[in-house]
Amino acid sequence: MTRRLTLSVFRHNPRDPASVPRQDRFVLGETAGMTLFIALNRVRDEQDPSLNFDFVCRAGVCGSCAMVINGRPGLACRTQTKDLPDEIHLYPLPNFELIGDLSVNTGKWMRGMSERLEAWTHLAGEPEHDRLETPMEPELAEAIYELDRCIECGCCVAACGTARMREDFVGAVGMNKLARFRLDPRDMRSDAAFYQVVGDDSGVFGCMALLGCHDVCPKALPLQTQIAYLRRVMARTGIL
Ligand code: SF4
Ligand code: F3S
Ligand code: FES
Repeated sequence: MTRRLTLSVFRHNPRDPASVPRQDRFVLGETAGMTLFIALNRVRDEQDPSLNFDFVCRAGVCGSCAMVINGRPGLACRTQTKDLPDEIHLYPLPNFELIGDLSVNTGKWMRGMSERLEAWTHLAGEPEHDRLETPMEPELAEAIYELDRCIECGCCVAACGTARMREDFVGAVGMNKLARFRLDPRDMRSDAAFYQVVGDDSGVFGCMALLGCHDVCPKALPLQTQIAYLRRVMARTGIL
């Protein structure tokens, strides 16, 4: 028998002074292979065209569909309704600017964090092209690729108590980026320069090892290992 699902969805338009945050309930029949992406689109098509939420790739690649699903940050396009109870509570990710309903501005947050960490390969000295072409051991290339799988969805930031308390905290996504560039032999930054940007409570010192980030990362990135790695390197370089 077809299950009837109730979606209880957070609604609010922060640009409308008359808008009061509330939960709206939508009832719909579950279909085979239904994801939250499909369910939300059906609600928007059949019940409320004003419902705001973000999707681009529908394949767990772009990171734009992250939201809080029954209390846990996750990707709506990769979440099947069959794995959820009849009543599904949806909220926007906390710690990010709310655009409306389930849509938040993770892009603005990620850009600010990336600029602050200078999250790009610093090729100084030789012509950039020569250094980019430098051969790399396959194991090292694999290790860098593994950390590059981050899709900047924001789930780790949403699940982090420190990020809730400190607006400038770079989060596990930032520390993962830093660890990734530290690994890259083409990046010419010294350890001291590397860690200058996160050697305070907005970076590694602020992390309280709560590990919510590690639990919710939809790409199963080894965030716990990367944070521990950064702490060890900082201690070794005498900065910690
Ligand atoms: Fe998302 Fe994981 Fe990247 Fe955090 S580290 S932004 S949870 S993919
Ligand atoms: Fe936050 Fe993860 Fe550290 S949840 S406190 S960044 S271990
Ligand atoms: Fe791209 Fe979900 S729509 S990750």
